[in-house]
Amino acid sequence: MSREEIETMPSREPRPDSHREPLQPAETGRDRRALRVLSGTKPTGENLHLGNYFGALRQFVALQEEHDTALYFIADYHSMTSVRSAAERRRNTLAVALDYLAAGLDPERAILFRQSDLPEVCELTWILTSITPMGLLERAHAYKAAMDKGEDVDHGLFTYPVLMAADILLFGSHRVPVGRDQKQHIEMARDIAQRFNHLYETEALVLPEPYILEDTATVPGTDGQKMSKSYDNTIAMFAAPGRIKKSVMGIVTDSTPVEDPKDTDQALFQLWSLFATPTERQALFERARAGGLGYGDVKKDLLARLMDYFEPMRTRRAELEGKPDEVEAILRSGAERARALAAPVMDGVRQAAGLGPPRG
Ligand code: TRP
Repeated sequence: MSREEIETMPSREPRPDSHREPLQPAETGRDRRALRVLSGTKPTGENLHLGNYFGALRQFVALQEEHDTALYFIADYHSMTSVRSAAERRRNTLAVALDYLAAGLDPERAILFRQSDLPEVCELTWILTSITPMGLLERAHAYKAAMDKGEDVDHGLFTYPVLMAADILLFGSHRVPVGRDQKQHIEMARDIAQRFNHLYETEALVLPEPYILEDTATVPGTDGQKMSKSYDNTIAMFAAPGRIKKSVMGIVTDSTPVEDPKDTDQALFQLWSLFATPTERQALFERARAGGLGYGDVKKDLLARLMDYFEPMRTRRAELEGKPDEVEAILRSGAERARALAAPVMDGVRQAAGLGPPRG
């Protein structure tokens, strides 16, 4: 199937026109299908919001259709540098699994697993740590930012990019869909892989490419800045209905009186557009520019559309929440499948580095 055919295939969800085409250059369908996709989410206990959904999760779901192997994992080892309570980590881990599954991740098509079910990740981390230059890690944005703020930095934070490299390299991942903020980490994984392959004269490690998800910026928060937990401007679509209503009604607008023409370049209209067809959008924007349209009415309509859009996912999430054993079974089976993909890579790495029993 060609890339174009894939892109014009009817998707299972309505595709509002705000959905942007991926930025990467075209490849043939067969090559593309064979590329292994992997991404991880840190279980830090933040509620999934519209920015995460339209910026990442929805695209993860699309990628599971377009690739034979898509791996998505809950990065619980990564959460250890910030979450220090076992109960909290378990709660957050389950929440991420529920979010992914509710949003349409299909455990038949994609492999969903919990990172710590594969301690191989830690083995590979050590092997990579021993060939990673200090200078490379000292240049990491996250580490530098923490140092600049004068925070007490644990070794885990310093070495975080190596753990992340291990996540990616363990499965021979080609393509790593992430937000722009993670680009440096993928580049580091690539550098580390290259160095390992060079030092041990092997091709055991595949060099991964970042696949930058640009959409995040197109989801404004309730205050007009990019939607982000750190700006406290999110709309969390799996929160209680009252909470969602409060967020939507709180979207900041300018003070144009009802009867006057409106500037459609505001967060409210952009958010509303996420849930409308191009025709509906054009009609509403024309009404807005003509004057006589109140922001309150647009907010009410946005709320109705948003609740409608996420209703099936909310239902599914609530259902799964009542069946933690089922979720656990999905994660375990995901871990088994992930382990099968990791085994030959790990074997190649151990052989190349002269670890474990020699072959033959
Ligand atoms: N560091 C990523 C984040 O904070 C999460 C993550 C961990 C990840 N390991 C990964 C993402 C591997 C992609 C691939 O968002």
